[in-house]
Amino acid sequence: MKFLVLVLFVTAIHAKHEIYSGWKSFFVKPVSHDQLSKLTTKIQEFDLDFISKAAVNREGIVLVKPRYQVDFLKFLREENISNRIHTENLKQRFDIDDQKIEARKLATRSLNGGRLPYDNYQTLDVIYEYLDKIAENYPETVTLVSSSKSFEGRPLKYLKISKDKFASNKPVIYIDAGIHAREWISPPTVTYAVHKLVENVTEPDLLDNFDWILFPVVNPDGYVYSFEKERMWRKTRSTDGSILSWICPGVDGNRNFNFEWNTVGVIDNKCFNNYPGSKPFSEPESRTVGEIIEKHLDRMVLFITMHSYGSMILYPWGNNGSLSHNAFSVHTVGIDMADAINKLSLPHFPNYVVGNAMLTVGYGSSGAAEDYAHYRGVPLTYTFELPGFENKDTDEYLDGFNLDPIYIHQVCVETWEAFVIGARRAGDLYGKKNL
Ligand SMILES: *[C@@H]1O[C@H](CO)[C@@H](O)[C@H](O)[C@H]1NC(C)=O
Ligand SMILES: *[C@@H]1O[C@H](CO)[C@@H](O)[C@H](O)[C@H]1NC(C)=O
Ligand SMILES: *[C@@H]1O[C@H](CO)[C@@H](O)[C@H](O)[C@H]1NC(C)=O
Ligand SMILES: [Zn+2]
Repeated sequence: MKFLVLVLFVTAIHAKHEIYSGWKSFFVKPVSHDQLSKLTTKIQEFDLDFISKAAVNREGIVLVKPRYQVDFLKFLREENISNRIHTENLKQRFDIDDQKIEARKLATRSLNGGRLPYDNYQTLDVIYEYLDKIAENYPETVTLVSSSKSFEGRPLKYLKISKDKFASNKPVIYIDAGIHAREWISPPTVTYAVHKLVENVTEPDLLDNFDWILFPVVNPDGYVYSFEKERMWRKTRSTDGSILSWICPGVDGNRNFNFEWNTVGVIDNKCFNNYPGSKPFSEPESRTVGEIIEKHLDRMVLFITMHSYGSMILYPWGNNGSLSHNAFSVHTVGIDMADAINKLSLPHFPNYVVGNAMLTVGYGSSGAAEDYAHYRGVPLTYTFELPGFENKDTDEYLDGFNLDPIYIHQVCVETWEAFVIGARRAGDLYGKKNL
C-alpha cells in the first residue's frame, strides 16, 4: 500500500512537469556590448527565457526549448559567446524541487497557531487565510482590502496597516510581490513584513510614523497556475477573446503599467513572456496597483516591488538608463537598504548590487511598476531582485526561482531590515512631503 501511494505520488509529479521535458538551461557570458546585443536580438527567434539576465562580463542563465537548442548553440559558437550547461534536464530538476517541498510540507501543513510558517512555500489559499486572520485578530491596525478581482475572479487581497486607519497625514510605504508568478520567494517577504508590523513588533516607530500598504500576491491567477501547472509561468492568465490568446494567455504584469508602455524590453506577441498587453493597464492586477498609487500619491514616499532573482536593488529610469532628478537620494537609500541586507546575509549569499534598472541589468524595460510609481511622483521607488544562488551540493544548478525552502526565513529576515532602513530614510527625506 505504501509502495502504491509512493508510485502514484511520483507519477503525479512526473506528469506535472512533462512540458519541460528536454528543456535545458545554459550559462551565457557576453564579453562585449556587441555580443550582448546579438544575444538580445535572438530572444524572439529562439524563444529564449532569460531567468537570470546577462550583462557585459556577467554570466546570465537562459532557458532554451528543445527545438531551438541546436541552432542556439550554433549561434553561440559563431559569435564566440562563452557558454556552459546550467541544467541538463529541467523536468528532472523540477521533480527534485517538488520532492524537497513535499518533504517539508509534511511538517508544516497549515497556519501554525494562526501564524504563517516560513519554512516552506505556501499556496495562495494559505497566504489568503493568513491575511484574513491578521485582519480579524488586529482590527484596530489592520484593514483587509479585497474589492478588486483578478482576471479569473480571485480577490486581489492587500492589507492597509495603520494606527489610525490612514486618518492622519503620515507618509505611506507601499510594498508588493508576486506580480511575476514564478518568483515564489517574493510573497513571503511581504507577509513577513506584516508579521513584523503587527505580530512581533520590534520597531514600533514604523507604525507610529508611517501607514503601510502590503500586497503579497499581485497576480494570484499566475501564482496558482505556477503551483499547479507550469512552474516557470510568469504572466497573468488573461485572454482577450482572440484565438491566439487562448493558445497563449497572459500578459507580463510588470510591462503593463502606463509608463513608456510597449516601447523597450517587450515583445508585442502574446506568446512571449514579455508581452506588455493590448494597452496600458489592460490587466486588472497591474491596474489595481496603479489605483493604489493614485489614491495615496500625495503621501506615498516609498514604493517597493519584490521580484526574484539576482540580489539587486534597482531604480528608475529603467526604460533608458537616465537618472531622475532625485537620483542621488534614490541611490543612497538603495545603498543603505542593500547594506542592511548584506550585513545579515549568509556567507554564501551574493552581495546586493544597487543601481539604475537598465544599466544594472544590461537592457531597458518599459511599463514597469517601479518606473510608473516614480513617474507619477513617488520619490523613492525600487524593484528588488531577491537572492537565487548557487547550491554547492548540486554544482550544475543554481536554485534561481526555486530557492531552496530552507532559505525562505533567512531571506525574509534580512529583507525586513531593508524595509526598516528604507522606511526610516524615506521618512527623513520626504516625510514632510505634504504636511
Ligand atoms: C573567443 O572568445 C575567447 C574567450 O572569450 C577568446 O579568448 C578568443 O580570443 C575568442 N576568439 C575569437 C575568434 O574571437
Ligand atoms: C520577534 O522578533 C525578534 C527579532 O526579529 C526575534 O528575535 C524573536 O524571536 C521574535 N519573537 C517571536 C515570538 O517570534
Ligand atoms: C528617459 O526617460 C525618462 C522617463 O520617461 C525621461 O524623463 C527622460 O527624459 C529620458 N531621458 C532621455 C535621455 O531620453
Ligand atoms: Zn520579476
